[in-house]
Amino acid sequence: MKNRINQLLEEVNQLVATNQEELEALRIKYLSKKGLISELFNDFRNVANEEKREVGQLLNELKNSAQDKINEIKEAFNSSSSSENKTDLTRTADPLKLGTRHPLSLVKHEIIEIFSRIGFTIAEGPEIEDDWHVFGALNFPPEHPARDMQDTFFIEQNPDVLLRTHTSSVQSRVMAKQKPPIRMIFPGRVYRNEAISYRAHCFFHQVEGLYIDKDVSFADLKQALMYFAKEMFGENTDIRLRPSYFPFTEPSAEMDISCNICGGKGCPFCKHTGWVEILGCGMVDPNVLENCGIDSKVYSGYAFGMGVERITNLKYQVKDLRMFSENDVRFLEQFKSAY
Ligand code: DAH
Repeated sequence: MKNRINQLLEEVNQLVATNQEELEALRIKYLSKKGLISELFNDFRNVANEEKREVGQLLNELKNSAQDKINEIKEAFNSSSSSENKTDLTRTADPLKLGTRHPLSLVKHEIIEIFSRIGFTIAEGPEIEDDWHVFGALNFPPEHPARDMQDTFFIEQNPDVLLRTHTSSVQSRVMAKQKPPIRMIFPGRVYRNEAISYRAHCFFHQVEGLYIDKDVSFADLKQALMYFAKEMFGENTDIRLRPSYFPFTEPSAEMDISCNICGGKGCPFCKHTGWVEILGCGMVDPNVLENCGIDSKVYSGYAFGMGVERITNLKYQVKDLRMFSENDVRFLEQFKSAY
């Protein structure tokens, strides 16, 4: 018995395993219930009484050595695999996730870019406005029904403090401060008290354009807008102007572009008309020029205003306006661009 124990002791001290499976096989061989060491413990009953003490000690020594050796190998595995993780400098780095620009920012920048190529600079104005800059100066008389076209949010029950309903308010601010020639665009957020649905929201974005100088004509307006439409939607895009009404322009028009999905042949998107509306425009009403201190006998000008959501919708076929403000990264991640 003693010989057998000593033999196993020697064996156990020289155990090696190159992977977890081998290690487990060793554990089973020596330490499991039916393992070699347990067998010896079973045989212990048959050891003569006077030897029991010595053999018992030896047996315990064997068991502990086997246990220690196996633990030692196990620890070597663990520490070598974790130190590998820390020090493997050749491992490929985790890819950094790049953010993307919001589709409305992309389109806003593209609009700015296009107009800057034909000499328009940018100005911005406040979102919290007064009645004069949003309505009064722009030729909306008090109680005029045209004010109902734009469902206004008022602040603190004071009808003179309101959230601007259109970026045309920046026109009145710029014209009051600056002498013509003025050739500017005004991008910004606007607010209207509308029920939120797939086609309306209580806030959205516009880009307003204004050109005031001597002898500005409707032909100039048409030319600038045609340039914009072709740059934004492609060389083959056609435009058409339909007569319309805005208090601050006379004459006024709404502009359609040939449907950029079916190329003007007619499809469900353009309701089979071949045209889609993109903006309002017109010649600045002389009353507006006078309200802002510009001599309407010397100067004339044009203005236009477009919804950024509308242009984005046409460019990227986003049918539901609400997606723009939901911050769903699955939606936002689809917009990759150089802008
Ligand atoms: N302000 C108008 C709106 O929000 C859009 C607009 C129409 C702006 C005609 C203009 C314009 O400058 O000339 O519906």
